[in-house]
Amino acid sequence: MTDLSPAWRRWRGGRVATLADAPGTPAYGWIPDGEILTHGDRIAWVGPADEADAACAAIVPPGQPVDDHALEGALVTPGLIDAHTHLVYAGSRAHEFELRLQGASYEEIARAGGGIRSTVAATRAASEDALFALAAARARQLMAEGVTTVEVKSGYGLSADDEARCLRVARRLGRELPLTVRTTSLAAHALPPEYEGRADDYIDAVCRWLPAWHAEGLVDAVDAFCERIAFSPAQTERVFQAARALGLPVKLHAEQLSDSGGAGLAARYGALSCDHLEHLSEDGIAAMARAGTVALLLPGAYYFLRDTTLPPVAALRRAGVPMAIATDHNPGSSPTLSLPLMLNMACTLFRLTPEEALAGATRHAARALGLHASHGQLRAGYRADFALWDAAHPRELAYRFGERLCRGVVRAGEPVGANAPS
Ligand code: NIG
Ligand code: FE
Repeated sequence: MTDLSPAWRRWRGGRVATLADAPGTPAYGWIPDGEILTHGDRIAWVGPADEADAACAAIVPPGQPVDDHALEGALVTPGLIDAHTHLVYAGSRAHEFELRLQGASYEEIARAGGGIRSTVAATRAASEDALFALAAARARQLMAEGVTTVEVKSGYGLSADDEARCLRVARRLGRELPLTVRTTSLAAHALPPEYEGRADDYIDAVCRWLPAWHAEGLVDAVDAFCERIAFSPAQTERVFQAARALGLPVKLHAEQLSDSGGAGLAARYGALSCDHLEHLSEDGIAAMARAGTVALLLPGAYYFLRDTTLPPVAALRRAGVPMAIATDHNPGSSPTLSLPLMLNMACTLFRLTPEEALAGATRHAARALGLHASHGQLRAGYRADFALWDAAHPRELAYRFGERLCRGVVRAGEPVGANAPS
């Protein structure tokens, strides 16, 4: 008879950075010679190797087999969480990169009908299978750099059917890859050409479509792009009301190019996160602090658009707003698939500490997805998602850049990837 009880596993010989926020935890949750006990897809215990025998004896029921796995001195961190991506799209915008280098701005290109709209045309023309193949290849690149959980937004379909197709592709990623996927509807990303001059009508349509996508199980959260080239705070609020009516959490692309007060509005709706935030005001910071909204910083977009206004990191830190870091992978403003590179940029460009940056791609990223009670930390009861690195100390993950340090990941207690331990 097959034994269906979850396997017990001891992961030995790692340098473990738990990133746990339990009281008394040292910086990074650092355990230089650590061990992890997992039971199926959960962590049962984490601690120093010299306490592991006693812990296992106390936790594992007598007679149960325990498999040993050698970590061979790898640095072990929680699996990285990329909490803001636009992975599902077709086409390339490399030509816009050339235009921008000749002097055109991101906003000018968008106003001339390029930008998001050009990706919408390519995405609508692609089959669902083609979109899946493209998105899966991108997801594998993220995974090769330590990612075990990813948020995937729609936003390049902009019609009832095309948005649903993109969300279905995102869900399929979660079924077919060893990856946890959270989906976000970003139908309020840009005005599709068939609604030119009728932004309010388009927002009405989005509010009508949302219940059907939700009923099909396609939506974990709802986002919008609140900006002078996209939607106004009043239009954004209508989308938030539709989300609230369905019990769905919200998040927002806010204050990326200008201060439109989106962060304060999102905070009033208890937003999980406000993202970008280069032009965030003091009022916005205070509102986010009160609401417990995560500031999701996107250094890739800042860098790639050659922005010069920094997000107010010192003020966010003072206000105690948790800061997360993500790739914002998309073809227009951040075509990167390396979350570790974003850690480096968060430090060099935004002046986060290496520990803040790593917490931003693990513990705080989990909070930005509503997964803070189960993901993003190595501690008992949490998901057994961890990444293994060729590095001596966690500060090296933000310090070294342009180098692939990830040996592999363990996801839901199972080794994944060519170099994962066997
Ligand atoms: O997060 N800001 C809006 N959306 C994306 C860019 C989308 C695009 O240019 O295709 C972002 O940066
Ligand atoms: Fe984005």
